[in-house]
Amino acid sequence: MLRLAVFVSGRGSNLKAILEHPELKNLIEIVAVFSDKSDCGAFQIARSYGIETRVLGKGEGRISNENLLETLKNYKLNLIVLAGYLKLVPVEVVREFENLIINIHPALLPSFGGKGMYGINVHTAVFNSSAKVSGATVHFVDAEYDKGKIIAQKCVDISDAKSPEEIAERVLRVEHQLLPEVIKAFAENRIFVENNRAIIKS
Ligand code: GAR
Repeated sequence: MLRLAVFVSGRGSNLKAILEHPELKNLIEIVAVFSDKSDCGAFQIARSYGIETRVLGKGEGRISNENLLETLKNYKLNLIVLAGYLKLVPVEVVREFENLIINIHPALLPSFGGKGMYGINVHTAVFNSSAKVSGATVHFVDAEYDKGKIIAQKCVDISDAKSPEEIAERVLRVEHQLLPEVIKAFAENRIFVENNRAIIKS
């Protein structure tokens, strides 16, 4: 079993997609869900599955940036998944878990990424660019927002989209397929970095 931690900030639909994916049931165990928001929807989902929730930040009962690395090491994790987590992961964590942290981004990186590019902001930028395709990207996490090597992408046609919200809806549907697929490939040891590229072998 792959031991996973999932980092979230919002409603948690990607977390739910991981938990409900039939092919992941025997491959992974989510041992804890971390969030910078103590009242996020994702925490409710985690708790309904009996998964431990941990709040990040300063203050009583929270895990500070300084304590995060030690905390994560104690869980003996094989993979960390950022599923709608909107903060930067501290550099010492990124260094320790090199190529063991993945993030899902709701656009086709390297376009429409970087600081401030999250949630509906991304889809508004895509809509206003008049792009005809968008999609989801899963990539390794490094110390910069949305800059790590791309592992997998899925496109959606948005040539007839009427609003950023409509793009968000179409992209979210493929996010819910792509993220579990990449986690499955990870659990099956099929992800490699070769020739300066991250690849999934079949
Ligand atoms: C998802 O669309 C995810 O791709 C995005 O936040 C949403 C979280 O939804 N992440 C980013 O924008 C990161 N830059 P969810 O909480 O329902 O999974």
